[in-house]
Amino acid sequence: MRGPAWWALLLVVALAVADLATARFVVEKNSIQVTSPEELKGKYECAIGNFGVPQYGGTLHGWVEYPRSNKKACQSFDQFDISFKPKAAGGRPNFVLVDRGDCFFTTKAWNAQNAGAAALLVVDDKDEPLITMDNPEEGKEHLENITIPSVLITKKLGDQLKKSAEKGDMLSVLLDWKESLPHPDERVEYELWTNSNDECGPKCDMQMDFVKSFRGTAQVLEKKGYTQFTPHYITWYCPESFVTSKQCKSQCINHGRYCAPDPEQDFSEGYDGKDVVVQNLHQICVFKIANDTGKPWLWWDYVHDFALRCPMNEKKYTKDCAHDVIKSLGVRHIILVDILLHFALEFDLFVPCAIVGNCGLDMEKINKCVGDPEADEDNEILKAEQDSQIGHGKRGDVTILPTLVINNRQYRGKLDKVAVLKAICSGFEETTEPAICLSEDVQTNECLDNNGGCWLDKANNVTACKDTFRGRVCECPIVKGVKFVGDGYTNCEASGIGRCEINNGGCWKETQKGKTISACLNEESEGCKCPAGFKGDGIKSCEGKEATTAAVGWSFLWVIFFGLVFAGVGAYAVYKYRLRSYMDSEIRAIMAQYMPLDNQEGANLNQHHVAHAEDI
Ligand SMILES: *[C@@H]1O[C@H](CO)[C@@H](O)[C@H](O)[C@H]1NC(C)=O
Ligand SMILES: *[C@@H]1O[C@H](CO)[C@@H](O)[C@H](O)[C@H]1NC(C)=O
Ligand SMILES: *[C@@H]1O[C@H](CO)[C@@H](O)[C@H](O)[C@H]1NC(C)=O
Repeated sequence: MRGPAWWALLLVVALAVADLATARFVVEKNSIQVTSPEELKGKYECAIGNFGVPQYGGTLHGWVEYPRSNKKACQSFDQFDISFKPKAAGGRPNFVLVDRGDCFFTTKAWNAQNAGAAALLVVDDKDEPLITMDNPEEGKEHLENITIPSVLITKKLGDQLKKSAEKGDMLSVLLDWKESLPHPDERVEYELWTNSNDECGPKCDMQMDFVKSFRGTAQVLEKKGYTQFTPHYITWYCPESFVTSKQCKSQCINHGRYCAPDPEQDFSEGYDGKDVVVQNLHQICVFKIANDTGKPWLWWDYVHDFALRCPMNEKKYTKDCAHDVIKSLGVRHIILVDILLHFALEFDLFVPCAIVGNCGLDMEKINKCVGDPEADEDNEILKAEQDSQIGHGKRGDVTILPTLVINNRQYRGKLDKVAVLKAICSGFEETTEPAICLSEDVQTNECLDNNGGCWLDKANNVTACKDTFRGRVCECPIVKGVKFVGDGYTNCEASGIGRCEINNGGCWKETQKGKTISACLNEESEGCKCPAGFKGDGIKSCEGKEATTAAVGWSFLWVIFFGLVFAGVGAYAVYKYRLRSYMDSEIRAIMAQYMPLDNQEGANLNQHHVAHAEDI
């Protein structure tokens, strides 16, 4: 039983592999720009690895280190006491340059990431055109956790960089993914080549996790017209002479025209390849009918719900389960309708669309689209899918699942919500990207380090650093409706109406006796000007009326002081004079006692004396 089964499987797989061998595979690239040393300066090409998170639409600038040991990064760098963490907080990150060979690319990336590297540069070990570093089927354990981008560089560039590093030169490079995806217009077209099979291990889990986490975002983008999404499904065909074989019958529908591998790779148990094809066909038909009624985003709900409600391991991977899911599509939000529908489903009643209000999808149309899997005829939908598997333009043939194609370029990297959103966002011309691209979801958090090197007014918590999916930008902000202008790096100033409300427009201000005098004039749209009667730069100081008053105050004190001094001196002089006069008269009086004086005079003197005595 097992023998022939394996033969047939091998044949179908061989066919697929033959396809693969002749398949046109396109290596997706980004640019690497060496910024130092001087003699290597310039732009080079590198190939984006198919794991980790390439910074689509952005750039990453860092120092390059070539480790003194563990040069292939096949072991943990801990053992060698090597770390690639930036030397200082907010410092430029470090990339690690390693040699190809001896272990999986993903192992190298994992070791580099754990040692603190911000990116992995793998040097090819032979002179050849660049290839895409892929994640192997085995050795996947780190795959989900790799978050740094990885690139493959040519042996030639690698050798030059290594030589330079060994000489002790400071190596610095800029990885640039800005032009990795074309952005021809204001809508991004993207395709996901996927599968309804939920029992294929990590790859199937990854696809399902992606649909779950990306569904909301995809629907918003689609509803607002920013994207046009199309799901796709790969099928193979059975070789002519095997069409009637048991094996092809279990793997294919429509007489060997459309086949999928057996989910358990065992034809005698569980679901067969043809069950997978039928479910895939349902998913395409749901998309087609939903798209025809102007609601293409219902596909995300269907695929999500189907995976939850109809899993293989619960033996619910059936047509009936699929139909139940289709019937409940698009009406879930309305409770009344839910109740109605519940009864309708329970008793198999027909609920006219008019009553439900929101009709979900027309079951008849779906059935017509699916057609008869037993019929010996083409299925238009699946035929079209097979045709579009073949690459065109810059896109290679689709041979692996899952495959994401954005603006007709194959996406490289992890199938992760944020990474994919970044890639989609980079498919828009700068400034035309939807708001979601500038949301927290895709922020790079570069502003957290040293404020991204942008202008910052700490005291007022105003910054020019803006985190975007393209990386941080230094752009003077708008705060409370007031626009700041400047270079964004070293200065930003509030300008226009209302600017005086914020930090007084950066101008001088002083409050005295409850009265505020300001150099920010609302009628001027920018700059600072000391108010009438004041002089100064208007920013740190203004001097004028206030200063004069103060001077007057001081001179007044001086006047008083000198007045007092003069008064004191004067009083002293008068006192001295009077004392002397008194002494004179005293002496005269004494002398008069010894020598007779003119009486008159003596009486006068006495009077004087008394007066003096009273005075003193
Ligand atoms: C990878 O990440 C997941 C979830 O964050 C975690 O549970 C798992 O332990 C990680 N694996 C490794 C090898 O660090
Ligand atoms: C979906 O609908 C749009 C517009 O209605 C159309 O341009 C597009 O070709 C349709 N896609 C498919 C796969 O039918
Ligand atoms: C500064 O503003 C940001 C948001 O605008 C806020 O999250 C943060 O807590 C503020 N910091 C201070 C010190 O007020």
